[in-house]
Amino acid sequence: MHLRDILERRRMVRNYTGESVPRETLERIVATVRRAPSGGYSQGQRLLVVDDPEVVAGLASDENPNLEPWFTTAAAHILVLTREEDYHDRYRKADKLQDGEEIAWPAPFWYVDAGAALMLILLAAIDEGLSAGVYGVPVEEEPRVRELLGIPDDLKIVAGVTVGHGAPDPEWSKRSSRSTQRRRAIDEQVHWNAW
Ligand SMILES: Cc1cc2nc3c(=O)[nH]c(=O)nc-3n(C[C@H](O)[C@H](O)[C@H](O)COP(=O)(O)O)c2cc1C
Repeated sequence: MHLRDILERRRMVRNYTGESVPRETLERIVATVRRAPSGGYSQGQRLLVVDDPEVVAGLASDENPNLEPWFTTAAAHILVLTREEDYHDRYRKADKLQDGEEIAWPAPFWYVDAGAALMLILLAAIDEGLSAGVYGVPVEEEPRVRELLGIPDDLKIVAGVTVGHGAPDPEWSKRSSRSTQRRRAIDEQVHWNAW
């Protein structure tokens, strides 16, 4: 599939058929992390793939009965994690030091790179004929999710991505920010040569 076709289909899908996705397909989707860019090639991105239906059910603490069942119908959840320490380790190496010091970070590259990896997962899922949706793990939920999945302290959860065979999600779509917020004009987001 061409990138422009993938992008046309790119939207968050919050309901799936419940059909499973073969391990090999999931492996291809998550292998995209090895093609993701990373500051200094620090490769701080980490992915935790949950495809065991029991664990998937554990991630879905309480689905809202007025909405399509998002978390439980997904074939897999891919948790996108980041290890900030990989960046400090990398940028304390001789070729990266500036005046003998670690750089002042222009942006937290560990989150930038997690976002890049997340985007590749979304595009790869569509390329496999699947659908995907992103969710943030609420701060109050994080300890439970960390405990459930045994996530070590040096990894920060950035977001979760559900993957599966897409099903209609009209109730979610009505409430999605995609429907409630206007799309910004291109010249609001993109400027040329000077701001
Ligand atoms: C970092 C991030 C976190 C998000 N968290 C949630 C979430 O918790 N719940 C949700 O329904 N959608 C979530 N979304 C999806 C956005 O609402 C969605 O991308 C946006 O409304 C645009 O819609 P579209 O992606 O379908 O075009 C998240 C997206 C991103 C990138």
